[in-house]
Amino acid sequence: MTDPGQRLRSSLAADSAASSGAEFDSPIAMEALRATRVLHAADQEPFPAPGRIRVITVANQKGGVGKTTSTVNLGVALALYGLRALVIDLDPQGNTSTALGVEHTVGTPSIYDALVGDSSLADVVHPTTASPNLRCVPATIDLAGAEIELVSVVAREYRLRRAIEGHIHALPEDQRPHYVLIDCPPSLGLLTLNALVAGDEVLIPIQCEYYALEGLGQLLNNIELVRAHLNPGIAVRTILLTMYDGRTKLADQVAEEVRSHFGDLVLQTVIPRNVRVSEAPGYGQSVLTYDPGSRGSTSYVEAARELAERGVDLAPLTDVRPMGAPPPPPAPATAPMPAVRPGAHRATDPAAPDRAFAGTDAAVLPVPSSVDEENR
Ligand SMILES: Nc1ncnc2c1ncn2[C@@H]1O[C@H](COP(=O)(O)OP(=O)(O)O)[C@@H](O)[C@H]1O
Ligand SMILES: [Mg+2]
Repeated sequence: MTDPGQRLRSSLAADSAASSGAEFDSPIAMEALRATRVLHAADQEPFPAPGRIRVITVANQKGGVGKTTSTVNLGVALALYGLRALVIDLDPQGNTSTALGVEHTVGTPSIYDALVGDSSLADVVHPTTASPNLRCVPATIDLAGAEIELVSVVAREYRLRRAIEGHIHALPEDQRPHYVLIDCPPSLGLLTLNALVAGDEVLIPIQCEYYALEGLGQLLNNIELVRAHLNPGIAVRTILLTMYDGRTKLADQVAEEVRSHFGDLVLQTVIPRNVRVSEAPGYGQSVLTYDPGSRGSTSYVEAARELAERGVDLAPLTDVRPMGAPPPPPAPATAPMPAVRPGAHRATDPAAPDRAFAGTDAAVLPVPSSVDEENR
């Protein structure tokens, strides 16, 4: 695996070598060159397929940290570089759907119908214009009521997991997505819980801002709770630094702090603050298709490449979660809430309460087995 920093340096060196030729003697020509590389990427250097289907939950209960932007652009990058990706919008605001140009007005078949209704995921999957490799399950505003409606649904925490597993198994092997990316809402309610139960790994985008680490302890505690009770396979596998502003000292300090805390989980690639990234959704596009030569675009390509390269050695999940098999039985409903490992994750947020799904404690308590059995 090539060091991404090295690769970026070589790519830049190649760019400047090219720019010394008569053909690429202006910034516009350089950008066009970079754009061509991104848009014809799959023919030139496809990303490697992962060792298993990766279901990645993109979570951070803080709003505005880059969850949606990262889900969309990583999804598009993976697809443009030859991998099949499915993006699931789990935020009632539907920003992911907007950014991928997928209809999400009320009445559009959406994730709501699969979570609360009887639809299968296949009924609510839409194609995208970004790439034939990329499909999207949109979210409509109906999803806003799902947190409450789901409370009375049997096996409510497992709804999304079952929908995804059912979908994957119904597809012929050569059409199954390599990557499923789930964009979470900015809260730790039942929707995010469904996403944590459905995923095999969590990707946490962290904004390079002063309050970046605030609340992170709470998220990590929640992931611990889910791992202990509902989904033993879940783990934080990736941290992505977003909205990095190289002009500020603060951005460097935050990046350093995150790296010292999370080590190798943090991708080498950092996403810079880039105006093209924020403009793209307004055109129903990812930054890769809106302005492929921009720094925002090339950095998301690099981040996706790192993600893909890290996935190559992942072992198939047969021992943890055979595809299609029922999820592990929950602990009895009377079981006490688990104690979080002493000191685990506390450094980031010493004030984080153990029972971190504050206000939605019922949601993390296992469903009594009598109710739940038939739906397992
Ligand atoms: N790298 C970036 N550069 C500039 N603006 C960005 C960048 N990443 C995200 N944004 C903007 O910041 C806002 C919040 O990002 P978003 O992805 O919606 O966060 P979240 O999903 O975590 O709430 C959006 O307006 C988005 O366009
Ligand atoms: Mg969002």
